[in-house]
Amino acid sequence: MRKPLITGNWKLNKGGKDAMQLSRNIKEGVRDIDNVDVLICPPFTALIEVYETIKDSSVKLGAQDCFYEMKGAYTGEISPLFLIDVGCEYVIVGHSERRQYFAETEDIITMKLKSAISVDLNTILCVGEKLEERENGKAFDVVKRQLEGSLSDIPEDYIQKITIAYEPVWAIGTGRTCEPDAANEMHRFIRNWIGEKFGDKSAEKIRILYGGSIKPHNISSLIEKEDIDGGLVGGASISPGSFLEIIRAASKKTRY
Ligand code: PGA
Repeated sequence: MRKPLITGNWKLNKGGKDAMQLSRNIKEGVRDIDNVDVLICPPFTALIEVYETIKDSSVKLGAQDCFYEMKGAYTGEISPLFLIDVGCEYVIVGHSERRQYFAETEDIITMKLKSAISVDLNTILCVGEKLEERENGKAFDVVKRQLEGSLSDIPEDYIQKITIAYEPVWAIGTGRTCEPDAANEMHRFIRNWIGEKFGDKSAEKIRILYGGSIKPHNISSLIEKEDIDGGLVGGASISPGSFLEIIRAASKKTRY
């Protein structure tokens, strides 16, 4: 049985005091929930304060990105080691916004993934097709290409530190959600790919999150699908009310 994981990706929202307030509300709201892992990913500058706020709770801390070098002359970048220092257990890698606005390629994503795992960070690798790719029947080819591009030469044991997030790009921030059956089909496809590459045990264990306009009203139908092990939530994660509702709905998952 895979314990559901609900992740809040705050993106470029909630710095400073707002971040502390939001993380405090989330911490208080999840006190009685122990069958869902809850992870929040604030902006870099809020990590230290958010860690201080949540460290005595079950809420885990993650970053939205990191660089692939540990140190050196790379102005503006953040080392995976720095993330460990401030209490992060997770980092998101290869989000579609990084691919789109910051020209991240599969090679860069692979380097980031390896580097983060080498210092023992758990990683959330994002994959997903664009609208025209889905409409042209290319969704599975695109996701396969992304998986092959990022995971082909990852050491076998690294797979334990990887969570996959399937995020159809056309569903991110648009209010359009992938139909639960279609999402589950893609999740099963990803799990099968992991099984072929890393073995059945890894496929059985790996958590595959859905992301793209998850809201309190649609989470239940998504989370009930066997291969959907949680969510990567953007917009609805920066208000405590909707994020907590999503977590509570995930805690009612019955089909694994
Ligand atoms: P959204 O974002 O929930 O606002 O669609 C999800 C994501 O980009 O991770």
